[in-house]
Amino acid sequence: MENPYLPYPVRIESVVTETEDRNLKTFKLVFLNPEDEARFNYNPGQFAELSVAGLGEIPIGIASSPTEKGFLKFTVNKVGKVSSHLHNMCAGEIMGVRGPMGNWYPWELLEGKNVVIIGGGFAFTTLRSSIVYMLDPANRPRFGDISVVYGARSPGLLLYKDELAAWERRDDIQMHITVDGTDDPAWKYNIGFVPTVTKQKAPSSENAYAIICGPPIMIKFTLPVLTELGFPTDRIISSLEMRMKCGIGICGRCNIGTEYVCKDGPVFSLQKLAQLPNEY
Ligand SMILES: Cc1cc2nc3c(=O)[nH]c(=O)nc-3n(C[C@H](O)[C@H](O)[C@H](O)COP(=O)(O)OP(=O)(O)OC[C@H]3O[C@@H](n4cnc5c(N)ncnc54)[C@H](O)[C@@H]3O)c2cc1C
Ligand code: FES
Repeated sequence: MENPYLPYPVRIESVVTETEDRNLKTFKLVFLNPEDEARFNYNPGQFAELSVAGLGEIPIGIASSPTEKGFLKFTVNKVGKVSSHLHNMCAGEIMGVRGPMGNWYPWELLEGKNVVIIGGGFAFTTLRSSIVYMLDPANRPRFGDISVVYGARSPGLLLYKDELAAWERRDDIQMHITVDGTDDPAWKYNIGFVPTVTKQKAPSSENAYAIICGPPIMIKFTLPVLTELGFPTDRIISSLEMRMKCGIGICGRCNIGTEYVCKDGPVFSLQKLAQLPNEY
């Protein structure tokens, strides 16, 4: 049996600085052993532990889509010990990836449905994975209308700017990009908080699921909007970020009531979250 604590060795192929404050970088990683890549079967919504030898490991959502072959992508916010060390690493260096971990957005339930994606700040990572996955030519017919509300504090803090622009140009996805504020005269998208823009754009709840990820304050004010639009709690899906250690349901570090966020989550419906103690 494979040792679940052993990371797969990967090489950093490229590092892209995403935001003008330089706090978010996207790492493109390539498996050193092709058989490890074959074993790393994942779905959008899952996460992995990124490890740096001698320093530690951190849970990070998988930003690439399984339809993108030959690499994994992770977007890392520089907040502390391990993430700061990662930010100082360069293309060519070797690090570790353990996973994939956790559950994923309920792709089997989303089949044939309209999908509303709502994201804020750097929590857009697994939503990027989901959008790339749904827009893949082999998958696009499996889903109905796709609409996206994505906001950041300012234009310079948006992730994946080239891809956002490319999705804007497509007619099989409705993009509503927004910023809290800007004095950039070239800004051509929305200005306003994510809950406000969601209310204005009013995506239909008919035959639809909403997936929402972002800062707690954004989620708190967007949920009543989704309820007003008619989304039932079992059709609002979110992803939680808890402190974690093992990532595989053994250490008991991440539990909320009886649920282990690393194993039973991080993806939960609002209906399920309402049944759990409010410890997240
Ligand atoms: C399922 C999951 C997916 C995640 N996806 C991403 C992602 O895609 N990109 C990303 O940048 N981050 C993500 N995170 C958060 C990331 O794991 C933490 O920022 C990281 O563990 C910090 O490690 P560090 O060693 O750099 O910081 P530390 O030195 O350990 O801590 C620095 C600061 O960050 C806070 N912190 C540490 N861990 C967490 C955590 N898990 N959640 C919230 N605050 C924390 C600490 O309280 C402290 O204030 C995710 C977390 C989970 C559980
Ligand atoms: S992180 Fe160990 S049980 Fe979830």
